[in-house]
Amino acid sequence: MEVIVQKTYDEMSKGGAQLIAQTLNAKPNAVLGMATGSTPLGVYKELVRMHKNEGLDFSQVTTFNLDEYVGLPVTHDQSYHYFMHENFFKHVNISHQNIYIPSGTTGNYKAFCDWYEKRIEECGGIDVQILGIGTDGHIAFNEPTSSLSSRTRLKTLAKMTIDDNARFFEKREDVPIYAITMGVGTILEARKLILLANGKGKAQAVKEMVEGPVTSMITASALQLHPSAKVFIDHDAASLLEMKDYYEWIQQKKPGAPQV
Ligand code: GLP
Repeated sequence: MEVIVQKTYDEMSKGGAQLIAQTLNAKPNAVLGMATGSTPLGVYKELVRMHKNEGLDFSQVTTFNLDEYVGLPVTHDQSYHYFMHENFFKHVNISHQNIYIPSGTTGNYKAFCDWYEKRIEECGGIDVQILGIGTDGHIAFNEPTSSLSSRTRLKTLAKMTIDDNARFFEKREDVPIYAITMGVGTILEARKLILLANGKGKAQAVKEMVEGPVTSMITASALQLHPSAKVFIDHDAASLLEMKDYYEWIQQKKPGAPQV
């Protein structure tokens, strides 16, 4: 896992967006894994800027979103469908038939989840997966004790997640209790992972993900098993890391390293 500590949220977002742009420049028909939440908003803003000012092209890109609440129609302003369209898709030249987001209103969740997994495979797998992290250390909606080899499925949200996400809803009771989410195993199959985290509220989860044991109690710790996972964090999110100086030292010395 490569830990990249940035001074500000903006720098962190630019770092994440640059990696995605590099992938698209090398492979214009790349498959991107998308995340929701407040954390990746800066990455989306920067990608939209690159599209408008630098011609970053999404016309051949396919996307798969990590998760969706169960029971919210796609028009609900807290559904992840709505979030993605408002904050990203409607601002770039992506072809709408190439956008995949789990359905929170299907009549058959099992069949939908199996189909979603199959579509990812048929599209050649995910090249870069963007991730945030929950305060309980989850990735997507893989709550504590989710199997590290889990696949796309229906999950019951943890109370902590419901509390965290209540700020987006009028009342706590409005937060859905169930979600459909890619599994940890699904996420680990992406060729590259980019996880973003900012703010003091994420510091403990980040510490456990990077320096704690690999455990289903902190599903983000499974990133330790991935050969190409980059973690972009700001100073607040990095504040509890024991080896923070070492991660900064690596980034400083990287430009002088022998070419491999
Ligand atoms: C939700 C999403 C996660 C996201 C997390 C953190 O639980 N399912 O994918 O990482 O929220 O959200 P935020 O970035 O708003 O802190």
